[in-house]
Amino acid sequence: TAGTVNPTELIEWFDATARPLPWRAPDVTGWGVLVSETMLQQTPVARVQPIWEEWMARWPRPSDLAAASQAEVLRAWGKLGYPRRALRLHQAAATIAADHGDVVPADVDTLLALPGIGAYTARAVAAFAYGRRAPVVDTNVRRVVARAVHGAGDAGPPSTNRDLADVDALLPTADAEAARMSAALMELGQVVCTVRSPVCDRCPIAHDCAWQHAGRPAYAGPPKKV
Ligand code: ADE
Repeated sequence: TAGTVNPTELIEWFDATARPLPWRAPDVTGWGVLVSETMLQQTPVARVQPIWEEWMARWPRPSDLAAASQAEVLRAWGKLGYPRRALRLHQAAATIAADHGDVVPADVDTLLALPGIGAYTARAVAAFAYGRRAPVVDTNVRRVVARAVHGAGDAGPPSTNRDLADVDALLPTADAEAARMSAALMELGQVVCTVRSPVCDRCPIAHDCAWQHAGRPAYAGPPKKV
């Protein structure tokens, strides 16, 4: 049915084709996911991967990072850009070490109460590290929803509550499947349902995609922030 997204189809596609990124390893810690999601927010996967590996080897637990100086942390952040992210991670690590037994919390509200952890990161950690049901919304996911559900060529300007509600409505009830689907939606937007040249031939949900059914119209919404 046009405009619906079948979770099973999407999850099976993800299981069969997902890139084996190190922060997706089955034994990754909440800390590993917190670091990866913070790095990935403004930096592409290929640049994040080697730095993430270095960080995990050097600072395997929040307390290890907390014990480092700001200067060391900034130096290790290297060229990832937006270095304030490194300082926020440093602060969060200190609080996790001091107040949470050196374990990154699993629950969205507890994560949100940590210094420097915003809504996106809190949901991504809950879903990807702990298999919780949490809508994870980035620009890739917004684009997939705009096309598959709304039949638009791209997402409009961000509209947090509506975007969250749209993704929430797609997620299955059970935590594990919902978390898997959150990862699958993001992967689909990054590798198949891309901005400029979507590879609909390889899309597992193209047969239900509202944008396909509408003949893939160009984006016609309000101007997007540049
Ligand atoms: N971008 C943001 N989070 C990501 C993840 N977990 N895997 C790949 N790309 C991402």
